[in-house]
Amino acid sequence: MKASAIAHPNIALVKYWGKRDARLNLPATDSLSLTLAPLHTHTTVTWRRGGDAFVLNGVEQRPRDVEKVARFLDLVRMLNPELSGAEIVSHNNFPTAAGLASSASAFAALALAATSAAGVTLSPRELSVLARRGSGSAARSIFGGFVRMNAGGEDEEGNDAYAEAIAESNHWDLRVLFALTTTGAKAIPSTRGMNETMRTSPYFSAWCEQVPRAMHDAEKAIAARDFELLAETAEASALQMHASAIAARPGVVYWNGATVELIHAVRTLRTQGLAAFFTIDAGPHVKVFTTAGDAAKVEEALRAQPGVIDVLAAAPGPGAHLTEEHLSPSSQVL
Ligand code: PMV
Repeated sequence: MKASAIAHPNIALVKYWGKRDARLNLPATDSLSLTLAPLHTHTTVTWRRGGDAFVLNGVEQRPRDVEKVARFLDLVRMLNPELSGAEIVSHNNFPTAAGLASSASAFAALALAATSAAGVTLSPRELSVLARRGSGSAARSIFGGFVRMNAGGEDEEGNDAYAEAIAESNHWDLRVLFALTTTGAKAIPSTRGMNETMRTSPYFSAWCEQVPRAMHDAEKAIAARDFELLAETAEASALQMHASAIAARPGVVYWNGATVELIHAVRTLRTQGLAAFFTIDAGPHVKVFTTAGDAAKVEEALRAQPGVIDVLAAAPGPGAHLTEEHLSPSSQVL
């Protein structure tokens, strides 16, 4: 009744921004991402008698946070009615809830560890559907490399809203540099930002209309390893997502000054001949995609930017997988 899993975060090249169904957590549009290592969430689930308990990074979580995880575990309890409570011990080797996609790796690892500990075997597609219920982007972290998320729309229960791998992690040796521009948790959680955009932004429908073209161009760019086309497509997707959010009432603004400076700095690097483009999620950090060959120079330039606190380096990584290494509430993991 115990299992452990590791899952990596992913960064979207074509963003997911907006839900067409809040209860089932169904996305309004398709999206496309790259799964990234060595950043990861490592989670151990033990099913046992009693209530649910959740320890994250060595800290017993507050009832509100346990509740979010317990609601997700209810979906697993529906698959095996003999299950009672669970102890979840989780560790992130990168900052949590800071706009660094920790909910993606968290729910992907939890979906795999919780079902496996319960003796329930799901296909990768079924796991993706389950992980989506915890966090939309988690559906993509079930898979490694380049991943496409299908919004679905035919199936009432949302079983056609799942992710699938479109190219393995070794297809293209890209690097992603996370330029961190603040410490601490993000201001507006992504679900709230999405809901406010959907409810009040006059640009939300325009945002949705652009996604099919972005998906087409991103898939073409990845298949052909066309960095320029991917750069243009991914920057447009990120800026269009943020433009729709900024146009909400009140505007959902995730950027700080350093975010804007980085947008310009990355574009300058590109005009100087370096492979570099940016993307930005529900937080002020800037993720810079580059090639293995240019990564050192791009990292040096990012570190020299005013307002950049640190830079984390990542490369294409694998999908969620089980591990024999179990965590206990008192485990010291570095
Ligand atoms: O998975 P969520 O609900 O945290 O939403 C993720 C939203 C973005 O990170 C901004 C975009 C994306 O596609 O990952």
